[in-house]
Amino acid sequence: MQKLLISGKKELSGKISISGSKNATLPILAATILAKKVKLSNIPFVKDIYTMIELLKFIGLDIKIFKKKKSIEIKKTNQTIKTLAPYRLVKTMRAGVLVLGPLLAKYKKAKISLPGGCAIGSRPVDLHLFALKKLGAKIKIKNGYIIAEAKHGLKGAKITFPTISVGATENAILASFHASGTTTLKNCAIEPEIIDLVKFLNNLGAKIKIENRKISINGPEIIKRKILHKIIFDRIELGTYMIAAALVGKRLKFDKINVKIIKNEIEVLKKMGVKIKDTRFGVEVLKSKNIKKINIITKPYPGFPTDLQAQLMVLMTRAKGVSKIKENIFENRFMHVPELKRMGANIRISGKVAIVTGPSKLTGAEVMATDLRASVSLVLAGLVADNRTIINRIYHLDRGYENLEKKLKNCQARIKRI
Ligand code: EPZ
Repeated sequence: MQKLLISGKKELSGKISISGSKNATLPILAATILAKKVKLSNIPFVKDIYTMIELLKFIGLDIKIFKKKKSIEIKKTNQTIKTLAPYRLVKTMRAGVLVLGPLLAKYKKAKISLPGGCAIGSRPVDLHLFALKKLGAKIKIKNGYIIAEAKHGLKGAKITFPTISVGATENAILASFHASGTTTLKNCAIEPEIIDLVKFLNNLGAKIKIENRKISINGPEIIKRKILHKIIFDRIELGTYMIAAALVGKRLKFDKINVKIIKNEIEVLKKMGVKIKDTRFGVEVLKSKNIKKINIITKPYPGFPTDLQAQLMVLMTRAKGVSKIKENIFENRFMHVPELKRMGANIRISGKVAIVTGPSKLTGAEVMATDLRASVSLVLAGLVADNRTIINRIYHLDRGYENLEKKLKNCQARIKRI
């Protein structure tokens, strides 16, 4: 089992290049089931992407990886398509459920392993199935599989989601691609990763419009023979490293990003006293001394993202006074708290709220990663703690952060994988 070794208190300076978004790449890879020939660029080669590629190969697509060029080429083969996503490929990566919509749309049937829960919660898919049934799919659950079919194809429908769900919105958009007539989805998630999926599908020939949380979908008359799509940058990776800069930065630069997409996160960091400057191509985060307390609630985009909650909590340990962060999206996303407390953080959990009293001196310790974002909060804590921190089970990190230790080492961090 690999570990990360971090010697803290080293000031970071330099430039970090932000990879493409994992959470945009996964639904767009699923969407290539609907395409003929696709070239995707700015791909983050992290574990979850390889798992999705393996699933698409199993289904019957031809996939070529060009790691150096950060691109993937996908095309249909004349191999018969398996409309199946087996347990072994879905159990480690729940985004495998996103092949349900496109398989149903194109092949009128699909058998998908129910994605298991994970560290942060039970992760049900009832909202995905709710939307597909509205589109006319017949669905039953048997032996841990979702068995869906639509003998005469799916029919456009008006659907209002009872609660906002990123994955359910994505699956519903994908399933509507070949539905007869128009589909209107209301109370949708509108994360930038969904906007990127819509851009990809419109590039394929669909006519999809987004206004506020309403998305209307008309499928394509003809599907473009060959398309090229560049994956949007990873706003969560960017937010993670901006917080690293706020913690131990001297000066970190981030180029080739779209600042508008993370304006709310930047507002929050500025309110906490983090020095952030706009540059021609992105942002620069400077050494920030007196960090101020703040109260945050995680919300669907454009609210503060749950995927940055653990990372912000580390910054809160530096703030004078009591900060609160309410985790409103997942039922169990405070797995990093006991580990941060072992490093000296003063955090109390009361229901959905973590109460962080600072400033507290963090000291290096041996800690355990649990889910992707909790793991990276331990890296951030290790960077600011004194002495040495050892992080176990870092395969969680490799699911979503590309070249993490290389990017940090390039900015003078003392971090190595053993
Ligand atoms: C996506 O997960 C992201 N994953 C998550 O990122 C992210 O945390 C989450 O959206 C929220 O922004 C990918 O994009 C691959 P949801 P998803 O459906 O789609 C409940 C990371 O670290 N729900 O918006 O699974 C659900 O339990 C990952 O990169 C239902 O009740 O999230 C949760 O409480 C972690 N029924 C809430 O809704 C459903 O059918 C939001 O989940 C679906 C979801």
